[in-house]
Amino acid sequence: MTILKKIKLKVRKIMDKKFYITTPIFYPNSNLHMGHAYVVTICDILARSAKLQGKDVYFLTGSDENTGKILKTVAERNQSVDFYLKELSQNFKDLYASLDISYDQFIQTSDKEKHWPGAVALWNKLVEAGDIYKSKYVGLYCVGCETFYTEKDLIDGKCRIHLTAPEQIEEENYFFKLSKYTEQIKNKIQNGELEIIPTSRKNEILALLERGLEDVSFSRPIKNVPHGIPVPNDPEQVIYVWCDALVNYISALGYGLEDDALFQKFWPADVHVIGKDILRFHSAIWPAMLLSAKLALPKSILVHGMINSGGHKMSKSLGNVLDPKELILKYGKDAVRYYLAREVSTFEDSDMTIEKFKEAYNANLANGLGNLVSRIMKMAEDNLDSPIHIHDSEADISLYFELLNNFEIGKACDYIWLQIGVLDQYIQESQPFKVVKVDKEVGQKMIAGLVTKLYFVAMMLDSILPDSAEKIKTLIKKNKAPETPLFIRKD
Ligand code: MSP
Repeated sequence: MTILKKIKLKVRKIMDKKFYITTPIFYPNSNLHMGHAYVVTICDILARSAKLQGKDVYFLTGSDENTGKILKTVAERNQSVDFYLKELSQNFKDLYASLDISYDQFIQTSDKEKHWPGAVALWNKLVEAGDIYKSKYVGLYCVGCETFYTEKDLIDGKCRIHLTAPEQIEEENYFFKLSKYTEQIKNKIQNGELEIIPTSRKNEILALLERGLEDVSFSRPIKNVPHGIPVPNDPEQVIYVWCDALVNYISALGYGLEDDALFQKFWPADVHVIGKDILRFHSAIWPAMLLSAKLALPKSILVHGMINSGGHKMSKSLGNVLDPKELILKYGKDAVRYYLAREVSTFEDSDMTIEKFKEAYNANLANGLGNLVSRIMKMAEDNLDSPIHIHDSEADISLYFELLNNFEIGKACDYIWLQIGVLDQYIQESQPFKVVKVDKEVGQKMIAGLVTKLYFVAMMLDSILPDSAEKIKTLIKKNKAPETPLFIRKD
């Protein structure tokens, strides 16, 4: 890519006044775990940071409900699909509320009014482009992944994720001409029009494109997924759940509906945030669908790693599943947000155990941030005559925002904790609490300076720990020390 083009892309990113961010839509049949909490938390941090930089933000999340696996669960529970989905989506929303997630919409793909018209409209566009044809699919299908596999995708004949043998199926399906778009997608990823972050994932998808893409089966017989979205003009078939799920990113904005003002305003997405296990769907199949429908491609796809526990994938049988709700109850929402933002790597797999969580909590929240707030505000309450008035415009936190704009969430946190360390050291070395006793004016100046810097720390924390940031700002406004520490040490 030429330097000029690179600059143009960067300018486009900075100048754009709107910011559209999405999480994957979650399968509603699994228990809520740290992986769910993780992706919504990092999206929330990016959404809040964009808002603080004056962007018009739209933050979408939701659940992926037209999946075959729900049928087994509802049969076991003797419930209707609708009842079950209502209960599960409420679970998600409760988790989001307990983590202060500032989402704008929770889309459910079972929503016949909101989502189905978009899925049907897009399907019709693929048909119009001549990219849908009927053919026989003979092969393997893993219901857990809702994915068609070949023998070479398996280990010992089993799906790598679910460790079960996929079903052998033989079906008359509609296929999508994915292969037709291989070159176009490759070019757009290579020239940065569709940015895949980090580079290791970009290279992974480029290698896949280099090997060439095969056409994919894009429908299933209705008898297998009776609650799926019917294929237009064929009552025997439903749209393949991944095709329908990916459309959520535009149907939620009104694509396919009469009122598509949100779509006009916010599409293309600025960033789809996804886990590495669903990279192929987002950076090959989704762009091909958009190209076929002559719609703009998302600007970037941020691919995060997996959270493991004790060196293993979290699983009930291993007893290493960390329940976000339990941690929130015991340590508070900001403790969980802190851990996910800073201690979990944005781009690589990370290991999370309760021991690591507790250690990080005590060191960086109870001792680090919490202690600093108590020390500074105690000095301020005891020695300043009135609250300090600070204007947001006095802060220079552009470097911090730049890190977040580049999705470097961990580094952005490091930057804040670096300032916390500097302030701690300053108090230790300069001892303003002693100075103020011998020279009131100089001591007060030093303390006022510390309060101002603490306010800047709170401004940066606004996107990462919104609740604590608000508490710190309130203490500063009232010139009061906290009655109880912001984070209480846990043994
Ligand atoms: N429904 C599809 C996504 C469709 S998007 C159009 C799906 N759902 S999922 O519930 O299985 O996974 C949702 C997201 O959670 C994925 O991005 C996945 O990577 C992420 N995670 C699931 N387990 C995880 C961890 N242990 N750690 C981090 N993220 C994890 O796939």
